[in-house]
Amino acid sequence: MRANVSGVRHFFLGLMLLLPLSGGTAYAQAQESRMDQTQAQRQQVQPGNNAPVWRDVRSGKEGYTSIQGRETGVLIQTEGETWRRLRNGPITLYGGWWVVLTLIALGLFYKLRGPMGLHSPPSGKMIERFSSFERMAHWTMAISFCILAVTGLVMLFGKHVLLPLIGHTLFSWLAEVGKILHNFTGPIFMFSIVVFVVTFIRDNFPRAYDITWLVKGGGVLTGEVVPAGRFNAGEKIWFWGGVIGLGIVASASGLVLDFPNFDQSRWLMMLANIVHVIAGILFITWGLSHIYLGTVGTTGAYEGMRNGYVDETWAREHAQYWYDDVKAGRRELPSGAPGAAAAATAPPQVQH
Ligand code: HEM
Repeated sequence: MRANVSGVRHFFLGLMLLLPLSGGTAYAQAQESRMDQTQAQRQQVQPGNNAPVWRDVRSGKEGYTSIQGRETGVLIQTEGETWRRLRNGPITLYGGWWVVLTLIALGLFYKLRGPMGLHSPPSGKMIERFSSFERMAHWTMAISFCILAVTGLVMLFGKHVLLPLIGHTLFSWLAEVGKILHNFTGPIFMFSIVVFVVTFIRDNFPRAYDITWLVKGGGVLTGEVVPAGRFNAGEKIWFWGGVIGLGIVASASGLVLDFPNFDQSRWLMMLANIVHVIAGILFITWGLSHIYLGTVGTTGAYEGMRNGYVDETWAREHAQYWYDDVKAGRRELPSGAPGAAAAATAPPQVQH
């Protein structure tokens, strides 16, 4: 009898627990059938209107698919549209203007300031400024950078700037070649950055006199000769912030895009794309300012990087502390020859 009472009690307890569940299932079923009915009615009055289905798809809900892999069950990834609008909208627009304004500013600066020349006449004696290895490291990085910059600009702005000018056939060919070049030059650029940084890091550590140089703006506007080490504070900032800082950001985001076979999500690829484009634009515009200063902006600088030698007056005016150290024999020449022998080992004036 006692066993019977306990059995009945358990039966009712189970029923009470199951009731809400069965109620919930019944409710869901009712809801579903109501939606089916609504959809059926909708098809009567608005044939082809599949709004609820598409709302479901757009929510990014993962459905079933037999294809294995990350996000393969997601029919439409709506964040893709946000990324597309961001990339093709403000980033292309403002990025494009940023490049154009940089070019205008450099042109204006050249017109107003002109090239930074020497204050004293050239001595006619040359001093080694860069060894052949150092020049090779610089030009490998510079050439690969320029290939990346041009192909990157074609990918970002070509549709707006080149397509209307050269038409679809030529543009598609150019974009295709550009993309392949960009993908293969990226890793070369990364490697060249590592070699460059190892080669030049010693002369890029900040020193107290760099602050004075910065405060005086390198004498660019006043025309004052401000002493510097082998590289001035502006070059050092370009070394740390541009080559190393932007180099790391552009390389890391570029690798995520270059090798999509590491199971990264589309969300990460889109983020990497936005970061890569912004870093690329900043890198290109900063690079343009550097190229300006390394060519028409500073008399004699380009010859130093091309041939390895600068006039001693140039060395004294642009890198006085370095020049003094070399001449006093406190440090060797870039190729490793003893410093005090600088004038003796330098070739006669290099002609171009
Ligand atoms: C493609 C055109 C380029 C030209 C004409 C050019 C020219 C020059 C010249 C003449 C110098 C020597 C300045 C001196 O004697 O103090 C120099 C130094 C330097 N260049 Fe370039 N350059 C170019 C591209 C690049 C690029 C793309 C980068 C970086 C991605 C770069 C990074 C540097 C750095 C960091 C220095 C200073 C060295 C240091 O601080 O260690 N250059 N460049």
